[in-house]
Amino acid sequence: MCSSYTLLSFLVLISAFFASKFLLPAKELPIRILNPSGPCTVTQKTWTLTSRPSGPFKSTDATLETSSLDVCSPSPNSLIIKTETLGLDAFLRTMLDAEAFHGAVNLTGTLPAFGVGTVVSSGVNSTYSPGDTVMGMLGASNYVSIIPSEMGPFPVLPFLPPALSLGLLSLTTGLTAHVGIYGVLKPPRKGDTVVVSAAAGAVGSVAVQLAKRTGAKVIGVAGGEIKNDYLREELGVLAVDYKAGDLGGQLDELAPEGIDFFFDGAGGEVLDEVLRRINYNARVVICGAASQYSGNLNVGVVKGPSEYLKLAEKDSTMKGFVVLNYMWRVPGAMLDLIYLWATDKIELKESWVEGIEEFPNAMVKMFSGGMVGKILVKV
Ligand SMILES: NC(=O)c1ccc[n+]([C@@H]2O[C@H](COP(=O)([O-])OP(=O)(O)OC[C@H]3O[C@@H](n4cnc5c(N)ncnc54)[C@H](OP(=O)(O)O)[C@@H]3O)[C@@H](O)[C@H]2O)c1
Repeated sequence: MCSSYTLLSFLVLISAFFASKFLLPAKELPIRILNPSGPCTVTQKTWTLTSRPSGPFKSTDATLETSSLDVCSPSPNSLIIKTETLGLDAFLRTMLDAEAFHGAVNLTGTLPAFGVGTVVSSGVNSTYSPGDTVMGMLGASNYVSIIPSEMGPFPVLPFLPPALSLGLLSLTTGLTAHVGIYGVLKPPRKGDTVVVSAAAGAVGSVAVQLAKRTGAKVIGVAGGEIKNDYLREELGVLAVDYKAGDLGGQLDELAPEGIDFFFDGAGGEVLDEVLRRINYNARVVICGAASQYSGNLNVGVVKGPSEYLKLAEKDSTMKGFVVLNYMWRVPGAMLDLIYLWATDKIELKESWVEGIEEFPNAMVKMFSGGMVGKILVKV
């Protein structure tokens, strides 16, 4: 499907795109507007945090603020962006606590979210042009006025569907899975038994497919029938439903030989049940702990791992990682994921929600279950 000539041309175009965005010196330009004859005032709808969730996030913890935004007068260094798509990430929930590794959102601050949007107007000092597609930390709003450096280093990839930049090819999703499977500890190999938790979510479902490609036997842990059916029927791996009870018994049945590699996005009880079953020289990669994000962090009630002594008994290694500390692996991982996607060897299922009004409900569903793969909001 993708010849090497096409791949080469694609790489040259991507390099030219990044060079034009980040390497060429900025020159002062007049304010530019996408639609000069259109109205200057638009209605801006923004979800703000109005109470800190004490447990799972509830849609009543946020308020939809409506105001008018003048899109014809961006400040000199800023852009006004019309948000097209927002992506949901589990770590966003941690940012709603009073203290957060990725930075806490202030009360009345905008709910955080990565998004893809179109530049509507750009200030005199901006190198972006109206009509450019951009990606970054835009927040849960339909229009954003932002200084480009606040969007973070997350350029949208040219010539590819924008949703890919928020999912399979995004730093916090596909690239995280790639780094976690191949780059943190000795990767899985044929003959190994691999377990992935939060396996039918965004990061987990990519990790499952990458682990399967190594030839290892793969077991996904996920909650509920929809997600377990997806793992078995569409990704072709074994599946365990932790919400059905007796997680340990289910793991024993599917992996009586023990577990060699664990990619953990869930933490808590799942981590302990896996640790109880590791083999000699097992590798446990801590990607995250979604089961502990709903109000447990920073208040001293994080569960597990209570079975860490198994690491000593089984000469095994457990290592956590943050993808931002593995940026040197990102170009190679990105190329590998593009190749696998272009040759239909990997997919990231997208679960779409319609309208900015639905953003908080989508956030609730990310943790309560049922929505497979990457949850995206069509703004
Ligand atoms: N280390 C890094 O640099 C890095 C970067 C990005 C993401 N991450 C981590 O990767 C993990 C997945 O992130 P994501 O954005 O792709 O989210 P996601 O998996 O799409 O959504 C959240 C997940 O949490 C699971 N979950 C919620 N409560 C749970 C519980 N009590 N027990 C087990 N699972 C539970 C849900 O699975 P069920 O519906 O099956 O319960 C769901 O899959 C998170 O831990 C996140 O922090 C780490």
